[in-house]
Amino acid sequence: MKFMARNRRAAFTLFWIVSGIFFLTQCVHPENKQTTKAVPEEKVNLSQFAGSQACAGCHKNIYDSHIHTAHYLTTRPAQVEFIKGSFQPGKNRFAYDSDRVVVMEKRDSGFYQVAYFRGDEKIAGRFDIVVGSGSKGQTYITRYHGQLYQLPVSYFTAARNWANSPLYPTNPILFNRPITSRCLECHSSLATVLSAPNVEPESFDEKMIYGVDCEKCHGPAARHVAFQTQNPQAGHAEFILNPARFTKKQNLDLCALCHSGRLQKTKPSFEFVSGDRLSDYFAIDTFPPDPDHIDVHGNQYGLLRASQCFKMSGTMTCTTCHNPHENERGQIALFSQRCMSCHNAAHHNTCSLTASMGSSIAQNCIDCHMPRKPSQSITELLPGHLAPTAAMIRTHLIKIYR
Ligand code: HEC
Ligand code: HEC
Ligand code: HEC
Ligand code: HEC
Ligand code: HEC
Ligand code: HEC
Ligand code: HEC
Repeated sequence: MKFMARNRRAAFTLFWIVSGIFFLTQCVHPENKQTTKAVPEEKVNLSQFAGSQACAGCHKNIYDSHIHTAHYLTTRPAQVEFIKGSFQPGKNRFAYDSDRVVVMEKRDSGFYQVAYFRGDEKIAGRFDIVVGSGSKGQTYITRYHGQLYQLPVSYFTAARNWANSPLYPTNPILFNRPITSRCLECHSSLATVLSAPNVEPESFDEKMIYGVDCEKCHGPAARHVAFQTQNPQAGHAEFILNPARFTKKQNLDLCALCHSGRLQKTKPSFEFVSGDRLSDYFAIDTFPPDPDHIDVHGNQYGLLRASQCFKMSGTMTCTTCHNPHENERGQIALFSQRCMSCHNAAHHNTCSLTASMGSSIAQNCIDCHMPRKPSQSITELLPGHLAPTAAMIRTHLIKIYR
C-alpha cells in the first residue's frame, strides 16, 4: 500500500477550486497545421507519441543536449537522481513547530513525506512525480486513487532546504491540494484525463510523457519514427512539424501556451498541438498588456510583447534569443551577442553607453536592460530565512531602467 492514512481527520478534504471552463466540443483546425498530414486528425492520445528516447538514434546531438534542459527536467518520475532535496538524517525534515514535523524518508516502496505529531506518524505520502528542474525549486506530486496531489513540503534551491509548499497553510499539515490538467499541460508533454469534464479533482492515467519533450514542440511523432525507420534511404522527413517553417504567430503561440501566465482555457487541456492557434483553446484578451501589472513569473510572452525590440523589429520571437535544444542558463555573454545581432554599428542602434564603457558593454546587456524583478506569485526560500520571500525573475520587458 503506497498511501498510509492513519489519521482520518488528516485525510483528504478537498478545498481547491479549479478555474477552468470545459467544453465538450473538439475542434480541429487543419488549416493552421504546417502540413495536414503531420498531425493525425483524431484526438491527441498516447499511441501517437514515440517518446524522446526514440529520437536519440537519428538526432543524437539534439537528444543529448535536450536532456539537460529545464524543459526536459520539469517533470520526472520520483527517482533519486531527480529529487534535489536530501534524505540524510538531520537534513531530511521540516518542522512546522515543536509538535508537527514532516520527515523525508526512504522506505522499501519509495520515497515518502511522513507527517508526525509529537513523534507519532499520522500520514505518509509517496513522492511519485517531481515538478521543477530545480533552478528555483521543486515540488512533488503523490498519486492517490488516480488523482494527483501536491505534497506538503517542497525543496527551495537557494536555501538548499525543505520548506512548506507555496499556497499550503502552515497549520494543519495538509496533503490535499489537487494537481490539475492545466498544471500538467505546462509541466509535461501529455497526461490523459480519465474523469469526466467538470469533475474535480480530475483523475489521470498513470502513463504520461514527462517533461516538455520533443513532441510537445514537434507534434506527436510515432508516424515520423515509423516512416524514417522503414525508409532509411528517404533523406527527407515525413509526419513531423518543424517550427522553423511556422508563421511568426504559430511560433509565438507554441511558447505562449506555457509562457503567458494564467490563461482561461476554453477546451480541455492537451488538445492544443504545436502549430495550432492559441486563441482556439484559450480566452486571450486582445488588449495590449500593461507591463507594470504583468507578473514576471511565467509571462515572458506578455512582457516581451510590450517591449520596443519586439514591437519595432517585427521579426522577434522567443527563438531569436533562445535555442530550444540547449541549456544556456546563466550564459549572459552569449545572450548579449544575440542582442548585438540587431544592435550593432551597421544598424546604427547601439547602446549610447558604448562610447563610455567600451568593449565591456558587450559582455552584459542583460543586467541593465532585463533586470531581475520580484515575482508576485512565486516565492523562494533564501539562506538563513525561515519564511519564503518573492522569487527574483528576469523580466522580459526590455527597456532602459534608470
Ligand atoms: C530512423 C531515424 C529517425 C528517427 C528515429 C527520428 N527522426 Fe526525425 N528525421 C529523420 C530524418 C532522416 C529527417 C530528415 C533529414 C533531417 O532533417 O535530418 C528528420 C527530420 C526531423 C525534423 C526536421 C523536419 C523538417 O521538416 O525540417 C524534426 C523536427 C525531427 N526529425 C524530429 C524528430 C523527433 C522529435 C523524433 C523522435 C520522436 C525523431 N525525429 C525521430 C530521421 C529520424
Ligand atoms: C508545454 C509547456 C511549455 C512550452 C510549450 C514551452 N515551455 Fe519553456 N518552460 C516551460 C516550463 C514549465 C519551464 C520551467 C522549467 C523548470 O525550470 O522546471 C520552462 C522554462 C523555459 C526557459 C528557462 C530555461 C532555464 O534554463 O531555466 C526558457 C528559456 C524557455 N522555457 C523557453 C521556451 C521557448 C523559447 C519555447 C517555445 C519554443 C518554450 N519555452 C515552450 C514550459 C514550456
Ligand atoms: C501557464 C503555465 C504554467 C502552469 C499552469 C503552471 N506552471 Fe509552474 N512554471 C511555469 C513556468 C513557465 C515556470 C518557469 C518560471 C518562470 O519563468 O516564471 C514554472 C516554474 C515552476 C516551478 C519552479 C521550477 C524551477 O525549476 O525552479 C515549480 C515547482 C512549478 N512551476 C510548479 C507548478 C505546479 C505544481 C503547478 C500546478 C499547480 C504549476 N507550476 C502550474 C509554467 C506553469
Ligand atoms: C521547446 C520546444 C522544442 C523542444 C522541446 C524540442 N524542439 Fe526541436 N525545434 C524547436 C524549434 C523552435 C526548432 C526550429 C529552430 C529554428 O527556428 O531554427 C526546432 C528544430 C528541430 C530540428 C530541425 C533541425 C535543427 O537542428 O534545427 C530537429 C531535427 C529537432 N528540432 C529535433 C528535436 C528533438 C529530437 C527534440 C527532443 C530531443 C527536440 N527537437 C525538442 C523546438 C523544440
Ligand atoms: C530582432 C532584433 C532585436 C534584438 C535581437 C534585440 N533588439 Fe533591442 N531593439 C530592436 C529595435 C528594432 C528597437 C527599436 C529602436 C531601435 O532601433 O533601437 C530596439 C530597442 C531597444 C532598446 C530601447 C528601448 C526603449 O524602450 O527605448 C533597448 C534598451 C534594447 N533594444 C535592448 C536590447 C537588448 C538588451 C537585447 C538583448 C537582450 C535586444 N535589445 C535585442 C531590435 C532588437
Ligand atoms: C531579446 C532576447 C530574448 C528574447 C526575445 C526572449 N528571451 Fe527569454 N531570456 C533572455 C535572457 C537574456 C534571459 C536570462 C537568461 C539567464 O539569466 O540565464 C532569459 C530568460 C528566460 C527564462 C527564465 C526566466 C528566469 O528568470 O528564470 C524564460 C522562462 C524565458 N526566458 C522564456 C522566454 C520566452 C517564452 C520568450 C518568448 C516569449 C523569450 N524568453 C524571449 C532573453 C530573451
Ligand atoms: C551599465 C548598464 C548598461 C549596459 C551594460 C548596457 N546598457 Fe544599453 N543603455 C543603458 C542606459 C542607462 C541607456 C540610456 C542612455 C541614455 O539615454 O543616455 C541605454 C540605452 C540603450 C539603447 C537605446 C538607444 C540609446 O542609446 O538611447 C539601446 C538600444 C541599448 N541601450 C542596448 C544595449 C545593448 C545591446 C547592450 C549590450 C551590448 C547594452 N545596451 C548594455 C544601460 C546599459
